[in-house]
Amino acid sequence: MTPLLDVDGLEAGYETGQVLFGVDLRVDRGELVSLLGRNGAGKSTTMRAIAGAKTPRVLGGDVRFDGDSLLGSPAYDVAGRGISFVPEGRRCFPRLSVEENVRVSINHAENPMAMEAVLDHFPELAEMRAKHARNMSGGEQQMLAIARALATNPRLMLLDEPFEGLAPYIVRRIEDIVEDINEQQDITVLFVEQNVAAALAVADRHYILDEGRIVEEVTSRRLREDETLRQRYLGV
Ligand SMILES: Nc1ncnc2c1ncn2[C@@H]1O[C@H](COP(=O)(O)OP(=O)(O)OP(=O)(O)O)[C@@H](O)[C@H]1O
Ligand SMILES: [Mg+2]
Repeated sequence: MTPLLDVDGLEAGYETGQVLFGVDLRVDRGELVSLLGRNGAGKSTTMRAIAGAKTPRVLGGDVRFDGDSLLGSPAYDVAGRGISFVPEGRRCFPRLSVEENVRVSINHAENPMAMEAVLDHFPELAEMRAKHARNMSGGEQQMLAIARALATNPRLMLLDEPFEGLAPYIVRRIEDIVEDINEQQDITVLFVEQNVAAALAVADRHYILDEGRIVEEVTSRRLREDETLRQRYLGV
């Protein structure tokens, strides 16, 4: 069966030089997969290239979604095909409330979820629906960023470091939310992490990126048990 997402020999870079040198990864329908790697390995570059961001520039290879190439498609087109991307730094509209932030996503989607169905996954947000994003904690803003992505009712969700800089109890909450979205809403998830514990807690399978190449594809069991592998590529 065709994978839902098939990244095949992806090469990409910036004006300053090439960063990805042939990234190969596949995600099947219903999977929850992590992309791990050190600072500067090229994780965000990979996600942005898949999502059709203005940079990086794609230099070679292909990205197929449900069998169709996404190369050359701008971000709105990629989103329209059912991929929602939460970039690093959880971008919400700071002067809009929780509900208004979600509403913007609903209004821009072709086949959105209903507001209440979205907020059902985020009881914390449902209780602060009039609060402005700028007055929310980092963890609450991350939840809101994921809620905005969910509102578009995507088939694939891409999350770039969803747990970064958050307190342990919020990390656990967001782990639960991501698992819940994957299972209850049947949304396939690919997320970037440096936090190996969080990746182990939620993902079934992991890719390790190093210097712009996928160097390993591992199960959670191997990642947990192979200290040499973790030391070499992740420094933990
Ligand atoms: N906009 C940009 N312009 C030029 N170079 C960039 C740009 N963004 C990233 N890079 C470079 O590309 C390389 C990979 O960066 P990338 O952000 O993809 O890494 P990452 O794995 O996401 O790292 P981190 O864990 O720090 O987020 C780095 O050398 C970085 O300096
Ligand atoms: Mg990054």
